[in-house]
Amino acid sequence: MKGVVLAGGLGTRMYPLTKVTNKHLLPIYNKPMIFYPIRTLVNAGIDEILIVTGGNNAGDFLRLLGNGKEFGLRHLNYTYQEGEGGIAAALSLAEYFADGDRIVVILGDNIIEKNICRAVEAFRDQKEGARIMLKEVPDPHRFGVPAFEGDRIVRIDEKPSHPASNYAVIGIYMYDGKVFDFIKTLKPSERGELEITDVNNYYIREGKIEWDVLDGWWTDAGTFDSLLYACNMVKQTGANKLV
Ligand code: DAU
Repeated sequence: MKGVVLAGGLGTRMYPLTKVTNKHLLPIYNKPMIFYPIRTLVNAGIDEILIVTGGNNAGDFLRLLGNGKEFGLRHLNYTYQEGEGGIAAALSLAEYFADGDRIVVILGDNIIEKNICRAVEAFRDQKEGARIMLKEVPDPHRFGVPAFEGDRIVRIDEKPSHPASNYAVIGIYMYDGKVFDFIKTLKPSERGELEITDVNNYYIREGKIEWDVLDGWWTDAGTFDSLLYACNMVKQTGANKLV
């Protein structure tokens, strides 16, 4: 299986921190943010990885990561997203790399305590479709939120003011090769982006989505508060544990 790290966008929510550098190069305690999602993929046995970068500092990723020696990789692939068209727009740039294979996608600002090995194994055994991961959170209105009927997810609402559950859809998504055809039919949302939640809702309507609850803590690091939280959690407990 191949992996894609989405580290595009302009990070304007975090100005002035991101005025002269890319959000995913900011420190999370003792490592640059992008190290954590790459490690999440590598720990799940994924060694063919594409990094989607963007903004003014794309060259810094190459200088920092090279061919991924630090992660035990022999090679890393890179591509560039112009502007900030949304997560699904960034993912569409991975079509050539995926070449019809299944992919595990991780947002460049998502950090986890443990690993996703079990979910990736389950996706390998899944016949088709998509697989998403959930985590119970105190502030679901900040995220994509699943609505359930029994054990079945019937829809995902993006940043709802009245969340249908206490779960966030975290930024780790697994898709079959059909995802790119679907992204081509998407229209920009109210915030002017191609939304990953629309992609997931498509798989839900097709009845082809499975889900797991992530073990251990999870956070994004895309706001000042969540960046601080991520630094503290990594310092206190460490991240990307394999046990
Ligand atoms: O963190 C999980 C959440 O991520 C999900 O629960 C939401 O459903 C999903 O929409 C997303 O929400 P955010 O609004 O927090 O996403 P944000 O715009 O901060 O983008 C997250 C990462 O995605 C960012 O660090 C890099 C990548 N990205 C984002 C955009 C908008 C790109 O590569 N290109 C883009 O154009």
